[in-house]
Amino acid sequence: MKTPLTAFFIIELLEKGNSVLNENEKLKTLSNLGIELNQVHDLDILMERILSKAREFVSADAGSIYIREGGSLKFSYTQNETLQKRILPGEKLIYSVFSIPIDCTSLAGYVALTGVHLNIPDVYDLNPDLPYHFNNKFDTASDYRTVSTLTFPLTTLRSGVVGIIQIINGHDDNGQVVPFVDIDEEMMFHFASIAAVALERARMTRATLLRMIKMAEMRDPKETGAHVNRVAGYSVEIYERWARRKGLTEEVIEDDRDRLRMAAMLHDVGKVAISDQILKKPGRFNDEEFEIMKKHTLYGASLFGINRSDYDDAAYEVALCHHERWDGLGYPGYVDLETGEPLKEHEYAEGGATGKSKEEIPIFGRIVALADVFDALSSARVYKEPWEEGEVLDLIRKESGAQFDPELVEIFFSILDVIRSIKKRYSSDISH
Ligand SMILES: [Fe+2]
Ligand SMILES: [Fe+2]
Repeated sequence: MKTPLTAFFIIELLEKGNSVLNENEKLKTLSNLGIELNQVHDLDILMERILSKAREFVSADAGSIYIREGGSLKFSYTQNETLQKRILPGEKLIYSVFSIPIDCTSLAGYVALTGVHLNIPDVYDLNPDLPYHFNNKFDTASDYRTVSTLTFPLTTLRSGVVGIIQIINGHDDNGQVVPFVDIDEEMMFHFASIAAVALERARMTRATLLRMIKMAEMRDPKETGAHVNRVAGYSVEIYERWARRKGLTEEVIEDDRDRLRMAAMLHDVGKVAISDQILKKPGRFNDEEFEIMKKHTLYGASLFGINRSDYDDAAYEVALCHHERWDGLGYPGYVDLETGEPLKEHEYAEGGATGKSKEEIPIFGRIVALADVFDALSSARVYKEPWEEGEVLDLIRKESGAQFDPELVEIFFSILDVIRSIKKRYSSDISH
C-alpha cells in the first residue's frame, strides 16, 4: 500500500511532476481540492470534478469512473477530450452506456476483481501471459486509440471495491502520449480515495432512505408497500416522457428516475409524526383532524431539510408539494416550515396560506400529486371501495388544469397501458 499524501510527497511532486500544470498551480489545486470537494453534495457533479482534476493533475486526455453494480462495472462518468471535439456540444460519448463484467477480460474488470492498481505504458503491447487483458471494444466502437492507462480501485473499508477510476493517455507538453510516471500513481491514490468516500456516502444515503420507506410502511397501515411502489412506478414513467419532451439528456433522466422513485416512495413519510388516533382512524377525518393530517407535508419536508444530498432534495420537494394543486388551491402552500404559519405576502385575508400554483410547484411534486390521487382512487381503502377505472380517468381528465398539470395529464393518458401494467404488477394490497 502506498503512503498517503504527505508534505514531503508534495515537495517531491513539485520537483518531479510534469510541467503541464506549473508548480504553483499544482500546490494551489491540492490545497483547494479537499475544501472544494467537501462542499459538493451532488454525487454526479463531484465525480465529474474528481475526474477532471485527476486528469488535469496527471495531464491525461481521457478518464472514466465506473461504479460497481453487482457482478459488473457500469461506465458512469466519462471524459475524453479528443472524442468530445468530434461530436456536437451536449451529445453523449458513445461508450458512456456500456457495462463490463468484473473479470480478467478488461483492465478495469481485473482491478475490480483483485483490488490492485495497474499502470500500463501501452495497452496494445501487453504480454499475453499476463493475468489481465485489454478490452479494445470501446476503442473500436469510438475510433479512439488508448495507449497509456492508470487504473485504480475505489475501495472502502466497509464495502471493498465500489468502483474504478481509469485515466487514459497521459501526454507531455507537446501533446505527445507518454506513459504515466510514479508521481502520477501517487496522485491517483489521492483522487481514488476521495472518489471512494463520496461513493460510499451516496450509497449510505440510499440505504437510509430505503429504511425510512420501510419505517413509514410499518407505521401507516394505509400507506402500504404496494401503494408506494405503484405511485413510484407511475411517477417515473410520467417523468421520463416529460423529461424527453423537455430535451433532457438520457444521463440526467436516468439519475432523476432513481431520485424520483425514492422520493415518490417517501411522499407520505411525514405521517410518522401524526398521532395514532388520527392516523389509524377507520374512516374519514373531520375538519380538525384533516388540518392536523395536512401537516404531514411539513413533517415530511423537515426530515429532508438539512444536509441535503441530491436524493434528499427530491424527497423534500415531493413530501412538501404532493398535495399542491395546479390552480393554487392545494396545501401546504407558502408556509414557514417550522411553524406552519403563512409566509408574509402569501396569506389570504380570511387566514391560511396561498397554495403554490402551476410551475411554482416543482415538477416532482406535480407528478407525484397525479400519481398518488390516481392510485388512491383506484385502490380500496377501509372506508371505500375502489373506483371503477373509467370513473378515475374521468376525474383526472376533469381536473386537468385544475388540480393537475395539464401536460402531465396528457402524458398520463398517452401511457395508460404502462400505468395499467404497473397497477397489475403491484396489486397485493387490494384488501386495504
Ligand atoms: Fe400525502
Ligand atoms: Fe399516498
